[in-house]
Formats: sequence, structure tokens, C-alpha cells
Amino acid sequence: TWTTEAFVDEAIREIRAKVGDKRVLLALSGGVDSSTLAFLLHKAIGDQLTCVFIDQGFMRKLEPERLVKLFQEQFHIPVEHVKARDRFLAAISGVTDPEEKRRRIGHEFIKAFEDASKRLGPFDYLAQGTLYPDVIESADTNVDPKTGERVAVKIKSHHNVGGLPKDLRFKLVEPLRKLFKDEVRKVGRSVGLPDEIVQRQPFPGPGLAIRILGEVTEERLEILRDADLIVRQEINRNNIYNQLWQAFAVLLPIRSVGVMGDQRTYAYPIVLRLVSSEDGMTADWARVPYDLLETISNRIVNEVRGVNRVVYDITSKPPGTIEWE
Ligand code: XMP
Repeated sequence: TWTTEAFVDEAIREIRAKVGDKRVLLALSGGVDSSTLAFLLHKAIGDQLTCVFIDQGFMRKLEPERLVKLFQEQFHIPVEHVKARDRFLAAISGVTDPEEKRRRIGHEFIKAFEDASKRLGPFDYLAQGTLYPDVIESADTNVDPKTGERVAVKIKSHHNVGGLPKDLRFKLVEPLRKLFKDEVRKVGRSVGLPDEIVQRQPFPGPGLAIRILGEVTEERLEILRDADLIVRQEINRNNIYNQLWQAFAVLLPIRSVGVMGDQRTYAYPIVLRLVSSEDGMTADWARVPYDLLETISNRIVNEVRGVNRVVYDITSKPPGTIEWE
């Protein structure tokens, strides 16, 4: 029978046999896959592993600092924190089309990743948190026709992005490739990852940039980070985090009229997107208590400057998608 202990032992043996004394690069995202991967590799090859966290500036409030601190101070796994907010924001400056935004962020990610790998490398291998469903999806595209070995052609967390440049085509180490998501969670938990990582709801590679419709600016990011924090706090307080597939806020780039005290306001609306789902392919808007919606709405309008209205998205998927872009 499958046990996490047996899996971890086997994975460590396999990583050592494959990598030998070579160096491995890993792009840490903060999700359960890349975190579990970092743990296994660190256990297997120690300082032959380099973890890079590319901070695009599109993560949630305090998330980057927390991730780096957790890895370095609690797990004693060094993380190279690349603070790349300015270049990412510049890359999508003035861009309003969702696909173009995604494309540019993905492209910038690869450039930042390339820079980091040149600065810290050379590396022979790229560790990637490929899971079994991903292997099936990309069956032939990832295999080098000459050697039959799987090679890195894209970065997993970024959809719709052209591949890695030719000279960045590392060989792959993919110790999670036989696992399903729930098995990765079990392994992650067994090596000591905290719930905040193991149970973390999905978060898209382009992050908050695709939850701000239209142009992304630092001001809008700040508003959305503050609104999103309130959503997460209230969801946690109600103990429904684990029942929801995702719970987040979206900022619309339009303004509507409101009144605050005796002042007329003209500010952005925030959309609440709370969904239940099994696999993200289909989803339903969550029937959460009105009181919860009320608390979130009151807090956002009172505490987040720049927002004067909160609306609830009651669209299922299909026809709606979970994200708004
Ligand atoms: P949609 O919006 O298509 O999303 O219903 C389905 C699921 O995929 C997540 N998502 C992404 N995840 N990189 C990711 O790693 C991405 O570019 C991306 N876009 C969407 C989304 O959050 C939802 O869970």
C-alpha cells in the first residue's frame, strides 16, 4: 500500500540517483506543490538545491515576506527572494486586455527566471512540481526526442505562455509526477508543511494582476490587497476556508456613486468571488450566510479607502469562469 513515508524515501533515493552531484534550480511559488518539492529536494541534496522565489508584486498582503521567512527561519531552506515588482508593473503598464496581460506577465516571469538562473547558476536541472494530471496533459511536448528524457518547456504556474527559451531547457527533476493533488497534500503534511500551505486555495500564477480588471496600478493593487485580506480574515473566522475552492476579491476599474457620512463618494466596486468546486473545471457560487457577506461588505467599505461598494458574483462555471480575467 502507498504510504507517505515510503514515497518520501523512494523520492529521495530517486532524486539522489538522478542528480548526482549536479545543481538544481527550483522556482518556489508558495503553493503546496513547489513547497513539497523544495522539502524533498532539500532533504535529498541539501545545498545543491537553489530555491528562487520571483516576487512579481502580485501576491496577497504580507504573503511574500511570510513565505520567505517560513522557509528560511522555520524550515532552514535558503530562498533567493527576487523582488521584481517594478519590472512586472512596467511590463503591463497601460495593458487592459486580459490575454495580453497574462502573456506579458508570463514573458516577464521567464526573463526574471532566466536572469536569476544566470546569476546563480549554472544549473543542470530544474525541479518542477509536475503532477500526474500534468504529465498526461503534456505527454509528448515535454519529451526530448533524442534522449527520451522529459525536459522543461514551460513554467507550470503560468498558463498560455510561450515556452522557455532554448538555452534554458534544463533537464527536469519531477519527483511528484506520479501523484495526484490529494497525495501531494498528504506528503506535504507528512514532511511538516503547515496547513496554510498544505490547504492553501489555488492561486493563479499572474496573481492579483488578473483580479484587477483593466489596467493594473500600484494604487489598485494596494486596494485589492486590503480588500482581499478582509475576505480571507472573515472566511477564516467563519471556519469555511476549507469548504471553499476559492474565496477572493476582484477590483473593477469603474467607479460608482456612494455616500459616506455626509460626503458623496465616487469610488471602485469590489466583487466577492466565493466558489465551491471539486477540481476547478466546474464551480458553483457559494451559498454562504448573508451575515458573512454583510460583515465583509461593511468592513471593506469602511476600512479600504477607494472602495464604496461590494457586490457578490452569483455566476456558476460554466458559463462564468472562476477568475474574472
Ligand atoms: P478559471 O478562471 O479558468 O480558473 O475558471 C480555473 C482555476 O485555475 C486557476 N487559474 C490559474 N492557475 N495559473 C495558475 O496556476 C494561471 O494562470 C491561472 N489562471 C487561472 C484559477 O484560480 C482557478 O482555480
